Amino acid sequence: MDKLIITGGARLDGEIRISGAKNAALPILAATLLADGPVTVGNLPHLHDITTMIELFGRMGIEPVIDEKLAVEIDPRTIKTLVAPYELVKTMRASILVLGPMVARFGKAEVALPGGCAIGSRPVDLHIRGLEAMGAKIEVEGGYIKAEAPEGGLRGAHFFFDTVSVTGTENIMMAAALAKGRSVLQNAAREPEVVDLANFINAMGGKVQGAGTDTITIDGVERLDSAHYRVMPDRIETGTYLVAAAVTGGRVKVKDTDPTILEAVLEKLKEAGADLTTGEDWIELDMHGKRPKAVNLRTAPYPAFPTDMQAQFISLNAIAEGTGAVIETIFENRFMHVYEMHRMGAQIQVEGNTAIVTGVPALKGAPVMATDLRASASLVLSALVAEGDTLIDRIYHIDRGYECIEEKLQMLGAKIRRVPG
Ligand code: EPZ
Repeated sequence: MDKLIITGGARLDGEIRISGAKNAALPILAATLLADGPVTVGNLPHLHDITTMIELFGRMGIEPVIDEKLAVEIDPRTIKTLVAPYELVKTMRASILVLGPMVARFGKAEVALPGGCAIGSRPVDLHIRGLEAMGAKIEVEGGYIKAEAPEGGLRGAHFFFDTVSVTGTENIMMAAALAKGRSVLQNAAREPEVVDLANFINAMGGKVQGAGTDTITIDGVERLDSAHYRVMPDRIETGTYLVAAAVTGGRVKVKDTDPTILEAVLEKLKEAGADLTTGEDWIELDMHGKRPKAVNLRTAPYPAFPTDMQAQFISLNAIAEGTGAVIETIFENRFMHVYEMHRMGAQIQVEGNTAIVTGVPALKGAPVMATDLRASASLVLSALVAEGDTLIDRIYHIDRGYECIEEKLQMLGAKIRRVPG
């Protein structure tokens, strides 16, 4: 397994380009299954999760065509099997996103039940109950979700999400796009990636209204047409590189992004003492050499502070002036990075879903292990500012969500290299 070796101490300074959003690209690729013709999706990030989704399509008989600009053309009419196999689903839970489109477009689907993952049990009961509300017959047996649309296809339905679920909202929205009649989703997720998916469905001729609010109305249509769509920028990658500059007291300008989709994160960075300027598609953060100040935060569904930025802010608090409390309300086990940071000298106490972080003047480089995607990113951030070398193992977690992370950090002046394992 590849490893990353990082020598801390460099104050980052430079500009980088932000890639397309992984968590928009995955539902949008799944939604191409709804179309009645070829669809092209551009600005896809070069990530392992994206190749896994494309590999899943290949296994179902759809041969995506990748053009010179790395846009992917998908023609769902060539599909041969409606099964998403366990050996792929177990590597990427987001494969569950093909369930709704397949039942809506082809009348049936068999998708392996995604297991839990490092950060929590990750149930999919809301995905299942939403489809059942639309008339689907669903059995879960042998580790597979077996779903079948009723005679005449899925029917529009009212569905209330008793927990805000991003991919739950996305799965049911996609299914509703081709259902008969109107669907209303209440307590829906408001994430920008949900809005990007709705815009894509509408670009194919769908009728989705209210995405970005907690009530989304979808009027089913007979068919969805070919379209070309460009995925939105990744707000979590954006936030991660801004924190990289903040922890090292440096300066970074992130381009091809959107400052309006991570306002809760920008507010916390200002509270930590960062000097922020923004333009239509860029954000510049400058610490002017200062050490950040500790911040308190509480994760919650969008537009509140995103759980996917929690680990990165634990890294910021670990070397900040003062003490910060970080409360994780979305996932039940998302503090594993804390125990790796202890190895680097971080002063962090976990009590239930709260981590109390007392900043220290310096962390010490040490061998550590990545446990999940965002935890790995937080270990990279801590290593950038630690004294000496840090060796990060199991970095396949990082490659799932951060395109070319060492090249982008090297462009900012970091001393980081990948060691093939
Ligand atoms: C999406 O996961 C993201 N993944 C996650 O990003 C992100 O952390 C999460 O939303 C929260 O923002 C993608 O978009 C591919 P949820 P998702 O359903 O949809 C409970 C990353 O790092 N729940 O919004 O799986 C669940 O247990 C990843 O890029 C149910 O109870 O998360 C959790 O407590 C990690 N029943 C809460 O809802 C369900 O059927 C929110 O989960 C579904 C979810």
